Amino acid sequence: MHAPKRIAVTGAAGQIGYALLFRIASGDLLGPDQPVILHLLDLPRALGALNGIRMELDDCAFPLLQQVVITDDPLTAFRDIDLAILVGAQPRSKGMERKDLLAANANIFAEQGRALNAVARRDVKVLVVGNPANTNALIAMTAAPDLAPSCFSAMIRLDQNRAQAMLAQHLHQPVDRVSQLVVWGNHSPTMYPDYRHAEVDGRPAPLAVGDESWNQEVFIPTVAQRGTAVIEARGLSSAASAANAALDHMRDWVCGSAGRWVSMALPSDGSYGIATGIFFGVPVVCHGGQIERVAGLDINAFAREKLQRAEDELRQERAAVEHLLH
Ligand code: NAD
Ligand code: LMR
Repeated sequence: MHAPKRIAVTGAAGQIGYALLFRIASGDLLGPDQPVILHLLDLPRALGALNGIRMELDDCAFPLLQQVVITDDPLTAFRDIDLAILVGAQPRSKGMERKDLLAANANIFAEQGRALNAVARRDVKVLVVGNPANTNALIAMTAAPDLAPSCFSAMIRLDQNRAQAMLAQHLHQPVDRVSQLVVWGNHSPTMYPDYRHAEVDGRPAPLAVGDESWNQEVFIPTVAQRGTAVIEARGLSSAASAANAALDHMRDWVCGSAGRWVSMALPSDGSYGIATGIFFGVPVVCHGGQIERVAGLDINAFAREKLQRAEDELRQERAAVEHLLH
């Protein structure tokens, strides 16, 4: 058995938290040989609920779960942690766009970035899930100048999983026959799910699909609006699928993606002509705990327009929180 890993989950008393914690504790994130200590952070008013969650975690008798810390103090939550999944934030309701949450949620990520900077392990891996995730990640990273930018990422994996499932269903193939699918940009309606380089059951996806109008008129808008469709159907934003995507993202980062391309929103390094100073969804492969961008993909005129729209939106989001970036 290895030494335990400390994993912080913020907003742990919320609906994503409830779908996430039991899976982490059962080994779904770091595997069957890796003990874990959970650090659960939420607001003071949610400490009673967190206590109930701790009781339920105890009652599962998970062999890998060594300890559960519950707290409303980010410095306690982030002390010596290996991984952080930052979920705690207000979700949107019907009629809102994710960027409408910026004002409500931005300060949370500034405070938590400072706390990570002060007490987390220097090689901590941080995933931001709370919306608007890309720009919240930028705020957290900026508030943590002593941590490398490579410690930070935002979640676009739910969009990749949605796109993968939709493409597989359209082509009547099992979902695991789809590979090398990319989602570029922002976790927002400007995202660009891109199957130009994907394979489905060994065939190039564009050939398997055939009809380009399906891509532009059905696939891209349906993937981009899926979060809204779930809110309209459930009356609440996605939770189990979001938790699942967070596990996928973190598992690939820590344990490797075995050569598969996966999409992560990372601090832009200027590649693909995307401006720096924003978090942008890009294709990556992971190995040895490191993330490596997939380089050299062709960006045609349609793709360039999509990337530009996402970049423009992210720059606008950045401008709205500029006061938190100094
Ligand atoms: P929820 O309202 O059920 O839970 C949020 C929890 O965060 C609550 O328990 C709340 O008390 C807590 N919280 C609020 N402020 C906090 C703070 N400062 N510190 C610690 N905890 C705090 O919401 P949810 O459905 O779990 O969604 C959480 C966030 O995740 C929302 O912003 C939602 O939009 C986002 N989300 C993102 C994706 C994605 O793909 N990136 C997918 C789904 C949901
Ligand atoms: C999602 O994509 O389901 C989440 O980001 C929730 C939302 O607001 O759409």
